[in-house]
Amino acid sequence: MKKLCIIVILGTLVYAFSRCNKAAELPDSAYDDRMSGGNFTTLDASTQAYKQPIDGLNARQTVVHNIGDGTFDQVFVAAPAPHFGGLGPIFNNIACINCHRNDGGGFPSTGTSNSGMLMRISIDGADEYGGPLAAPGFGVQVQDQCLLGTTPEATVSISYTDVPVTYPDGTTVTLRQPTYALRNPYTALPASYMLSPRVAPRLVGMGLLENIPESTILSFVDAGDANGDGITGKANYVYDGYTKKTELGRFGVKANTPTLLMQVATAYQQDMGVTSYAQPDESAYDQLQMNLISSETPGNELVDSLLNYVTFYVQTLAVPARRAVTDSICKHGATLFTQINCSGCHRTTMYTGVNPAINLSSQRIHPYTDMLVHDMGDELADGRPDYLATGREWRTTPLWGIGLLSTTNGGTAYYLHDGRARTMEEAILWHGGEASKSQQQFMQLNKADRNAILAFLSSL
Ligand code: HEC
Ligand code: HEC
Repeated sequence: MKKLCIIVILGTLVYAFSRCNKAAELPDSAYDDRMSGGNFTTLDASTQAYKQPIDGLNARQTVVHNIGDGTFDQVFVAAPAPHFGGLGPIFNNIACINCHRNDGGGFPSTGTSNSGMLMRISIDGADEYGGPLAAPGFGVQVQDQCLLGTTPEATVSISYTDVPVTYPDGTTVTLRQPTYALRNPYTALPASYMLSPRVAPRLVGMGLLENIPESTILSFVDAGDANGDGITGKANYVYDGYTKKTELGRFGVKANTPTLLMQVATAYQQDMGVTSYAQPDESAYDQLQMNLISSETPGNELVDSLLNYVTFYVQTLAVPARRAVTDSICKHGATLFTQINCSGCHRTTMYTGVNPAINLSSQRIHPYTDMLVHDMGDELADGRPDYLATGREWRTTPLWGIGLLSTTNGGTAYYLHDGRARTMEEAILWHGGEASKSQQQFMQLNKADRNAILAFLSSL
């Protein structure tokens, strides 16, 4: 009898525990639609909405987050300096926050302290790990700023041409088609090279994205387009120079970086010229520039703990809560968003895996991305492959928090990988390739329905 009792109790416990872990089985109505980041959602909708820490950090984690925050905002200076030295000799900007304004997006401009754009460069072929092949003298990124006594690698010129698009209902929207060129190179440019302009994306819910199980992301791939919706999707696999392994790419506009540690270390190295234990070589390594500044020595210019703290800071940024979830127009927009299969790429709901270290486990999240890269057509193409992502492929941008971009950016917002779109509507109209069907269906909608989708996006 006693034995049976114990078995029954144990059985009940095991059952109850397995139910706890299967949050997925609860009906949708059991969840609060505002909680885009699960428990890691912030109700802050101010200019600081992207800068909020996730809930549940313990006292030590809060200290680490705050030091990371301070370092993220910190302007770096040339070596030798007692603190935050090691900038340059060549770089794109002097602080993370200058590009990711309020942890949000950047301006599509180059060459000034509030420019949030950078230009990747490479030549035909691939390096030994399948990544972009460095352009001799320039590496894989054009550093357009430099310390006194050196020369920028080149300056980037951007010009725009108007492209009018007319809806079937007669409404016209003018898109701007960018053209990029390098000017004033410090040494001869290779005979042929490929460029990839990129504007700083908003840093929303990065830790949650890092914790989506690989199996979930791979389950979104439909290589043969079995369901016939025109959307295939591809996982990018990239080399991690720190773990020395090829891993699933998650970050960057072509899912070209495997982890937040590498993303942050590479930002310090390439964007700011600051080396660290995970990226110990100067971006100017092996170039003429390197020898011009005697105080610059390759090595770990960033203290190890600070690299870890900034990574932790980025990992523990919350996701802004959705607003206006009960508004009838937003609700209609949400339905249309699924009906015209925007959700075929901008996947609405998934669960994070287990990460006991930062409690980011088992959250039901609404990132509006599948973390895959998609062929987005000729007009968005940069023609520069990045590991498995071709010159036409881009990672589905996570749309959570998008509605607050102009608030965090001081009233203006720029969309798409190079900030060419000035409104969300322009961004949708640029969609081509695998997204053509959705884009055409969007164009066929009447104005009220189109506005409902835009209202829904603004509520994210
Ligand atoms: C010159 C502007 C610039 C600076 C400075 C900069 N970033 Fe970025 N950041 C970008 C761009 C552009 C991308 C997209 C990169 C890509 O596609 O490879 C990016 C991507 C990221 C991402 C990944 C976002 C995503 O959605 O995948 C993180 C995280 C990030 N940056 C953190 C940082 C940190 C931390 C610093 C400071 C060490 C920093 N950035 C400095 C421009 C900048
Ligand atoms: C085939 C996959 C796919 C489909 C379908 C799709 N998108 Fe996208 N979306 C993307 C990709 C990839 C990007 C990034 C493109 C770039 O940066 O050049 C993007 C970018 C965006 C952006 C800009 C985000 C930002 O912050 O820059 C918005 C807004 C957007 N999509 C909305 C929509 C809407 C609305 C629909 C339905 C009409 C839709 N998308 C359908 C893949 C898709």
